[in-house]
Order: sequence, then structure tokens, then C-alpha cells
Amino acid sequence: MATIKIDGREIPFEQGDTIIRAAHRAGIDIPHYCWHPGLSVAANCRMCLVEVLPPPGRPAMQLDILRWDAKKGDYVPARKPKLVPACQQGCTPGMEVLSSTSEHVEEARSAVQELLLLNHPVDCPICDQAGECRLQDYWLEHQRTGKRMQQEVVHKPKAVVFGPTIVYDAERCIICTRCVRFCEEVVQDPVLSVRERGNLNEIVVSPGKQLDHDYTLMTEHVCPVGALTSVDFRFKARVWFLRSARTVCQGCATGCNAYLDYDPRNNTPYRHRPRDNEHVNKYWMCDEGMLSYKRAVENRLTSALVGGEDATIEDALDAVKEQLAGFGDDASRVAIVLSAQHSNEDNYALLTLTRTFVGAKNLYVSGRPLGRGDKILMSEDKNPNTRGVMQLAGSMAPKPIAALLDAVKAGKYSFVIALGSELEVDEKEALGVLSKLKGLVTIASHDGPLVRAAHVALPAAAWAETDGTYVNRQGLAQRSEPALRPRGDATPGWDLVTRVGKKLGYAMTFKSLSDVRRALSAETRTDGGANGAARTDADRAATKPEVSA
Ligand code: SF4
Ligand code: SF4
Ligand code: FES
Repeated sequence: MATIKIDGREIPFEQGDTIIRAAHRAGIDIPHYCWHPGLSVAANCRMCLVEVLPPPGRPAMQLDILRWDAKKGDYVPARKPKLVPACQQGCTPGMEVLSSTSEHVEEARSAVQELLLLNHPVDCPICDQAGECRLQDYWLEHQRTGKRMQQEVVHKPKAVVFGPTIVYDAERCIICTRCVRFCEEVVQDPVLSVRERGNLNEIVVSPGKQLDHDYTLMTEHVCPVGALTSVDFRFKARVWFLRSARTVCQGCATGCNAYLDYDPRNNTPYRHRPRDNEHVNKYWMCDEGMLSYKRAVENRLTSALVGGEDATIEDALDAVKEQLAGFGDDASRVAIVLSAQHSNEDNYALLTLTRTFVGAKNLYVSGRPLGRGDKILMSEDKNPNTRGVMQLAGSMAPKPIAALLDAVKAGKYSFVIALGSELEVDEKEALGVLSKLKGLVTIASHDGPLVRAAHVALPAAAWAETDGTYVNRQGLAQRSEPALRPRGDATPGWDLVTRVGKKLGYAMTFKSLSDVRRALSAETRTDGGANGAARTDADRAATKPEVSA
């Protein structure tokens, strides 16, 4: 493979690579604002300037300049090499690039940084981007000097509402046009553009329009500074107090890789951010997914319910035994409901109880109803683990809940053991039918029709509180890390299933998540690779909220 040298280090490049792309792939950071690996090249910020050495025997391209001579107290004629933007310059075999080893580059980056900050309000103490802002980071790395301009800065519009989710501050904007390009190229809704030139320029929304497509929070996320802020996150938290867990979005079957940022001091999640995965979501997430972090704490089932009344887990388990006592050895009277909302581990525990002990032959699957999909990321299937459930069940292919209701109506079943709370059918009708059952036991993390219909409901830990594997629509098994401490009496679903099994007198042996994982089939076990590696608490605590490339 052809190579280039950056600061003496030889790195390979692929046909068509720019210097910054090859460097990025090799883990070399060249400072940049306007470049984003998922967007076209604008080359307007000039922060990525590098010095490309001339081929052997050829003179370097030089520029005539005037340089300040402190001794003379005047400008004197001088020459310096012409620098090139690394985001635009293509690689050629044997090319030699100086990035962090050139005094000219160092000087240029400092000057670019100074220019970008000339009219900047530097309102870091009240800016949501503080702590993860390129302007702050690069000032420290490449400038470290005070402002020389004494005049009043140019003032521009502040707190401009771009749409229901995004607020814009033109004074902080560096006109990198990432937001404009994202809307145009990824979302294909070219609703943003640049108005005016020079220090009067600003980003505007097309007349009569709003920034209100399905990826507005992502538009905010690509902003490298605090110019675009999300209504949801504005002024809610300082990022240096937040920790990040590597999660899998639960919003739909796409399974976008995400970071869940949470404050361990109050056990509260604050936002979802995309985590790059070339094979699943590239660099993006949809609004629905980014806001779905709220479901980690909203509408939760936090204590056991017996007959709709709060109970301890122990009392509820006793009630489970009573409720299910009637089925004796007649497994044909029991239906099992797996959940496309719950992890492979939870579903596998229930399957083990079903196949090995109860002997029930009929499986059904609960989950959220279909919704809107698109050609970018969003799946119509709004459940994160439909494929995982189908794989686990194998030849016992689970049927939809509507089929369960028909079978209950026909008097086929008297007992149901279910995971999950959501049903894709009309709730009223479902409650009417399910009320005919002699025993309905539900293990669920959230409130919902299946919980309301249950004689006994047990509170499972939500996806953000427990380690779990989810198989996305492509069949990729991905692990989601826990972030929060379980709320109330919630405990992992696989553990509750095991305790139900033991209460019913079966020898369920799962003592830990690793026991469940060991028993899981090889196809659905994660490989511990980039998406699956378990991390220690110390690793997690060390994860700094990241700025997207
Ligand atoms: S709003 Fe942010 S992303 Fe858009 S041009 Fe300004 S700095 Fe760049
Ligand atoms: S596309 Fe689906 S998985 Fe991806 S962020 Fe949106 S809801 Fe989440
Ligand atoms: S990153 Fe190259 S010019 Fe902006």
C-alpha cells in the first residue's frame, strides 16, 4: 500500500485519501473545525494547514510576506513556505508532510485561532459547549496568547430559534458550514445557509422554514463550537461532571451506537450522543434516538406489583407461585411472551425457563408498534432486539401478540409468563382479552399494557442500568453498557426470570450475567471487540465526553 510521511511517521493511504483522512485513520490528530469525516470538504476554517515538503530536487513554493521585526520596530520583507489545508490536499506516494514539527504551521495555526476568536464572545462560563469545545482546546494547544485586538467586537444575533429543538448564537459561530452541509448532504433538507461575508456572516434558516427535520440534534452535534445548542440540553449540565457509557440506542431496530452521558452524583442521564460505527450508524443518530435517553428513567416500573398494588419482590414471587400453581404439568396451557425491547440475556433466561423446565411450546413476542422509517437510519421497527429474539427462538418462531390474544380468546391458554410491557395492539382490547387469564406474570422495566394487565409484575432494570446484548436489523450483536444505578427495586430481567423459575421449583442455575452469557448461543455472543468490550468502572470514569470528529 502506498504511504505518506507525517512528521517522520510513515502511514498508509487509500486511493483518493486526503492528508487529514489518512492521518485520522492512523490515529494522528490534525486540528480541524470544518472537516468532518462524514461530510464533503469545505476547507474554509484553515485550522488544518500543514507544510508539504517539495519532492527531492524541487524548490519549495514560497510566499513573499512582510514580517514584524521587533528590533527595527517595523515590518520587513520575508519569505515563508505556502501551507496547504490537510483536509483538501490529496495524498501522493512518498509525500512528506510536516504537521506538528513545522514552525510555520505552528505560527499559522496560532494566527487562524486568533482570527477565529477576534469577535468571539468567549462566554465559556455560560456556554454549553465549554469543556468539549474546539475553540477552547485549540486555544490551549495552538495559541495561548491574549487577544491583541482592542476594539469592540462585532455583535451578531444571539439565541435565534432555528426550530423546536435548536437555538443558534451567531456570535459564537465560526462559519465552518458543517451544519449547512449536514442538512444538505445527509438529511437532504437544505434548510440552512450562510448570509453575508467576512465578519458579518451568519447561518440562517431559509425564509418561511424551520430546522425541524428528523436529525436536528445531530445538526447541533456536528457544530464544533457552542453556536448551535439543543433546547433539551441547554443549561442543564456542565459536561465535566458527566460520565459516558457506551450504549446501543433503543429507539429502533437500527441499533445506532451511542454514548449515554449521565451524572453519577444524581444518577441522571442527560443526553445521547452518536458513537462512530462505520457499519451501523457511521457518525449519526436521529432525533428520536438522541432523545430516547429519557426512557431510561421515564415511565419506569420501579417496584413489584401484585394485583396492581406495590409489593416487595419476595411477596411478588410468592404471588407468582400462587398465580401459576394452576397449570400443573400441562404446559400447553401456558404461553410465553418474549420481548423485542429486552436484551438477549433477559430473553435467553426466559427461553431457558420455557424449554428446559416449563415445557411450553408456544412463543409470542411483545414490543412497540411499527413507526416511521427513512433511508438514512430510522427503522420502522421501533424495537432494538427483534432480530435477537427471532434468532434465540430459532425454530420455535415467536408469533405476534395479536395471535396470542386470539388464542386467549379461544380459551387455549390460562397462563402467560411475559417479558416487557409494550404491545403493538390496541391496549383496551388487549386488557379485555388478557383479563380472562388465570395467571399473567410480567417482568418489565417500564409501565405499559402488559404490566397493567398482569396479576403480578416484577420490576426489571432498564437498558441503561444493565449490561445487555441487542441484535440489530442487520444481525449484528452489540453490547450496551450500564450507566445508571437501577431505580427503586429494579433488578436485571434475567435475574428475575431465574428467581421466578426457582420459586416454581425448577433448578435454574444462573447466578450471574456471565452464567447467562456463557450459555448463550455462539452466534449471538458478542466478540468483545470494538462494540462489545466490557470496561471497568475506572475506564468508564475516565471517558471524557468527546467532540465529534
Ligand atoms: S453553527 Fe456551528 S456548525 Fe454551523 S457554521 Fe456555525 S460553527 Fe459551524
Ligand atoms: S435510527 Fe433508530 S437506532 Fe438509530 S438513533 Fe434513531 S432510533 Fe436510535
Ligand atoms: S479543516 Fe481544513 S480548512 Fe477547515
